Amino acid sequence: MFEALRPLVSSIIDSNKTPDAKMQDICELLKANVPHYDWVGFYFKNGDKRELKLGSYAGAHTDHTIIPYGKGICGQVAESNQNFVVPDVQAQDNYIACSITVKAEIVVPLFVNGENIGQIDIDSNTPDPFTKADETFLEFVNFEVAKIL
Ligand code: SME
Repeated sequence: MFEALRPLVSSIIDSNKTPDAKMQDICELLKANVPHYDWVGFYFKNGDKRELKLGSYAGAHTDHTIIPYGKGICGQVAESNQNFVVPDVQAQDNYIACSITVKAEIVVPLFVNGENIGQIDIDSNTPDPFTKADETFLEFVNFEVAKIL
């Protein structure tokens, strides 16, 4: 599945759209084609503030458009620069719930010139669905998106 999606991600990156429209297309592509992806979005560092701001996303509306560094899974990744795989969100103390249907989450940081400037965030309604294959694929997606930022 992920191998088939890679060239589709690359063709979105190479398309004739704005960066925001490309990221929107990627969110929709991933949500529509990966059965365990129920919400897909990008968060980015908000100027020089120590907070994340929601960018493109596909899935339910969220009130969490601004997340301070250190808060929730997203805010922790902004500080750790590491992938964060959460098999069971209920087992996390520092977690910001978006929807009661969400069971698991993965956040992968996005680097431009070695700097952690944002992240891709996936919520899943399936318990413990993420493997190393998700991490490798999402690192690829972020590497591609970094080219247009
Ligand atoms: N659950 C995230 C908040 C963002 S929503 O999933 C869209 C967190 O704990 O950082």
